[in-house]
Amino acid sequence: MQTNPIGIFDSGIGGTSIWKEIHSLLPNENTIYLADSANAPYGIKGKQAIVDLSIKNTEYLINQGCKIIVVACNTATTNAISLLRKNYDIPFIGIEPAIKPAALNSKTKAIGILATKGTLSSDLFYTTTSLYAHGLKVVEQVGEGLVELIEMGKINSEEIKMLLKEYLKPMLEANIDYLVLGCTHYPYLIPQLIEMLPKHIKIIDSGEAVARQTKAVLEKHHLLNLQTTKSKCEFYTNGNPEVLKTILDNSFEVKTLDF
Ligand code: DGL
Repeated sequence: MQTNPIGIFDSGIGGTSIWKEIHSLLPNENTIYLADSANAPYGIKGKQAIVDLSIKNTEYLINQGCKIIVVACNTATTNAISLLRKNYDIPFIGIEPAIKPAALNSKTKAIGILATKGTLSSDLFYTTTSLYAHGLKVVEQVGEGLVELIEMGKINSEEIKMLLKEYLKPMLEANIDYLVLGCTHYPYLIPQLIEMLPKHIKIIDSGEAVARQTKAVLEKHHLLNLQTTKSKCEFYTNGNPEVLKTILDNSFEVKTLDF
């Protein structure tokens, strides 16, 4: 079981930002990444549709023999992970916006969250915000259109820059000192964000924390792969494989799947 792969899924290519953290922390681990790009974006869908797609992705990965599943999507985690944990025996790791560290460290007592509509309207997001951001100004912003452009490979486009400028405006007006990235596609926009934001504003995403949590859970379940042979990393998409290849710097083979 230890040599079985870690399964990772997202609505598209964004979860590769999480895969990169996991691969860097756990280079021995075999991985299977599933990009459900044909159904992206999840963030504009209703809860039931997000749950159904998460079940479909999970079953695919379980059928491939995955020993653990990383839901590398804030939208799927916040809407579906509790049900997945209830329905399947293997461990699940999720990702949600890192509100806690931002809220605890904010000096201006104002933080910004950029995420999908599906994440911002979820019960889990509401619970976490009420728990940690009490008494703080939380500027919630739906990143409408960003996932679609990233999925088209337009990461460095003027369209993206214009949208980001519009989305950051209310946050800057509120004097935020932390910007939380609540979608796994958004770390690919960090270079543009750094250019646009005043230097004192810190950008937080949860990728590294998810990788550390994955390691801890594998250890707890005695599932760490102790083999020192080169790991096998497989990538599957039901969308355009070229975009996924580019985001992986053409270092890995990407297979197209009909799922
Ligand atoms: N990467 C997904 C997330 O973290 C994108 C959501 C979407 O497909 O809208 O929320």
